[in-house]
Amino acid sequence: MLSMSPALPGVIDFYDRHPISLPQVLDALRRQGKDTRSLVPEDLYDWDQDHYGGLEAVETLARRAAIGPGTRVLDVCAGLAGPARFLAHRFGARVTALDLNAGRCLGGAELSRLVRLHRLVRSIRGDAQQLPFRRGAFDAAISQEGLLHVPDKGRVLRECARVLRPGGRIAFSDWIAAPRLEDGERRRLEEWMAAVAIETVPGYRALLGRAGFTAIEAEDLSGEWIQILRRRLEMYRSLREDTVARLGQVRYDEYNQLYAFFVGLVGAGKLGGARVSATAAPAAS
Ligand SMILES: C[S@@+](CC[C@H](N)C(=O)[O-])C[C@H]1O[C@@H](n2cnc3c(N)ncnc32)[C@H](O)[C@@H]1O
Repeated sequence: MLSMSPALPGVIDFYDRHPISLPQVLDALRRQGKDTRSLVPEDLYDWDQDHYGGLEAVETLARRAAIGPGTRVLDVCAGLAGPARFLAHRFGARVTALDLNAGRCLGGAELSRLVRLHRLVRSIRGDAQQLPFRRGAFDAAISQEGLLHVPDKGRVLRECARVLRPGGRIAFSDWIAAPRLEDGERRRLEEWMAAVAIETVPGYRALLGRAGFTAIEAEDLSGEWIQILRRRLEMYRSLREDTVARLGQVRYDEYNQLYAFFVGLVGAGKLGGARVSATAAPAAS
């Protein structure tokens, strides 16, 4: 049984209601005429990557985290384990996909089994703030667009430092707050997308330093993400009729407003994205 901080049930609920889940992925594949008993990892890529920038973004994180054949990787906030399967399939890494949401973990495990990657990718349920792994169990840790849901990011980074071997690498991307992001806007982000705490780049640098990481680097992804968000909003609106038929007008309006709000915040420079990487402290000699 997972012991839980007060913000986490809201996050679990948000992903329990998420429009992309295992049954939806399998339905979409069947509609494409695929036999779900003979899938390959590539069949899933349109559905199982819940972050910005698609597979290219995962490849970039893999480079920053020095991931290659046999690398023991921890994916923190792994969702349906899409990035984890990509790292296993593309690089031959052995990946542990950790997620808080039971449905995400079960769905991730089933998708890995369906594409026969279950020996390289294991899905584990757990809280990023209390990693259920021994000291030095991993060579690399990654995370994509998950830490915004985690209240105590300092604790996550300390836990990552603990489970990484000395000299291991961490690389992650996340939403980033600019100083001008207002309290009311933060509250709406929390209500609408369970973004319980959005960090700043200097904040992440300080937390990583305090957790014992060195060689800290941060790249601004805001320009890239605003283009993606604008395209997604356009696509979402172009599918209006279908979405209203499937989910109803209220749900359509809710997501439409959420996207528009998001695009507005990023366009106004109040919210952005960053990719951050660092090295776990080497063993004391
Ligand atoms: C936007 S999804 C990203 C999934 C995945 N990284 C990807 O790129 O496909 C964020 C995920 O973070 C997970 N999450 C949120 N809070 C968490 C926590 N405290 N510990 C572990 N996972 C968490 C959610 O359940 C969700 O699956």
